[in-house]
Amino acid sequence: MEIEKKESAESGKMEKIISLCKRRGFVYPGSEIYGGLSGAWDYGPLGLTLKNNIKNLWWNRFVEERDDMYGIDAAILMNAKVWEASGHVAGFADPLVECKNCRKKFRADHISGGEKEASTQELAKECPECGKFGTLLPESKFNMMFKTNIGPVEDKSSVSYLRPETAQGMFVNFKNVMDSFHPRLPFGLAQIGKAFRNEISPRDFLFRAREFEQMEIEYFVREGDWEKHFESFRMEILEWLAGVGLDKDSVHELEVPAEDRAHYSKRTIDFEFDYPFGRKELLGLAYRTDFDLSAHINKSGADLSYYDEEKKERFTPHCIEPSFGLDRTILAILCEAYTEDEMGGEKRIFLKFKPSVAPVKVAVFPLLKNKPELVKKAEEIFRELKKEIRPIVFDDNGNIGKRYRRQDEIGTPYCVTADFDTLENDTVTVRDRDTGKQERVKTDELVNILREDIYGKE
Ligand code: GAP
Repeated sequence: MEIEKKESAESGKMEKIISLCKRRGFVYPGSEIYGGLSGAWDYGPLGLTLKNNIKNLWWNRFVEERDDMYGIDAAILMNAKVWEASGHVAGFADPLVECKNCRKKFRADHISGGEKEASTQELAKECPECGKFGTLLPESKFNMMFKTNIGPVEDKSSVSYLRPETAQGMFVNFKNVMDSFHPRLPFGLAQIGKAFRNEISPRDFLFRAREFEQMEIEYFVREGDWEKHFESFRMEILEWLAGVGLDKDSVHELEVPAEDRAHYSKRTIDFEFDYPFGRKELLGLAYRTDFDLSAHINKSGADLSYYDEEKKERFTPHCIEPSFGLDRTILAILCEAYTEDEMGGEKRIFLKFKPSVAPVKVAVFPLLKNKPELVKKAEEIFRELKKEIRPIVFDDNGNIGKRYRRQDEIGTPYCVTADFDTLENDTVTVRDRDTGKQERVKTDELVNILREDIYGKE
């Protein structure tokens, strides 16, 4: 009974988050005016800023702060041979079952309720849609790549795919970066970009979509060094997740057993997060061995080896791959930040974003809208602050309490109000989102104080 109550509270939380995201311009259902498109989501103005903040925090930490990383931005459309070599044409498939009663199709591993592949006997149990027993028929595997044709002729030779992972863009550019920059091992290629998977049953909001973004690194090492680098990425990942606001108790590491690992992996850790709908994979860290470079050497004939000048030896580097799902990270941050409490005797909803993640950093208000001298002063303060801190908003709509609630709901960490004292002694109030406490500060110290709170106190 207790468990049931908790589960329904958690699923209620998910609905509240989806509703807030739509209402306040974070995420909208894709193609909504035409009834939507399953597995596609559109980011609105605040969602886009949140997304960009997360991308920038990731890029800074994993690329720009390091000396051994090279960023790339490869084309989404790639030669079909890439996906033949990588094993995706042959093996990137989910087991599919169809109910002969209601004709709905499901991923077999979703029928059993867990992430493991269900046995034939389990498939014959109950259809999740119509509830009939013994009507689920196992079908052939379903390849999840979106197929398309390049150019006007639709035949075998023009087939291409929307990439299902950004990783291959990095493997096929290994030689280009080597030739341009001559990096020494270990070094990595990093990329943030769209990936597409024709998921059988997209679900749980941004968690399982058909179009999503990944933030991936292919880090090339000597075979003998892989464990050391794997461990160092494991620690960096945990630190970065904490830095963007995920509680360490909500993040869990799952050592993926050999039978569940992708075909290219000799070791994988799934970093899982306690989403309201259960503990699920947020990102993966895999040791891909030399599988991909070797596969592309065999298929393309290109020389993707590495020559060690000192040791005078040539070999194919091995690869460690941290693979972050950007949308799953956004969803985890939203779930972690979503908070309900009571303030001033009223129920309130707020997003407890870290200031570095928050899409709006500061809101500036005049205490009263109908006092031109207050509005003028607040506008001046807004213009000055905007030179240094962005994004920042000006709001004089409704009463001050409503303005605070609106900013709380989108996670704005600080609200600055110009009141009658401002006109007298050039001070303003700065309100903290989480506590609701207000502090009076001198206007000429405002930028420095806020800058430190937003960028210096992570
Ligand atoms: N290059 C390795 C790779 O793509 P993966 O485990 O298939 O590995 C990596 O995907 C990450 O991409 C996942 O941990 C998840 O965060 C994200 N991801 C995968 N499928 C997704 C989907 N349908 N919707 C949203 N994110 C997805």
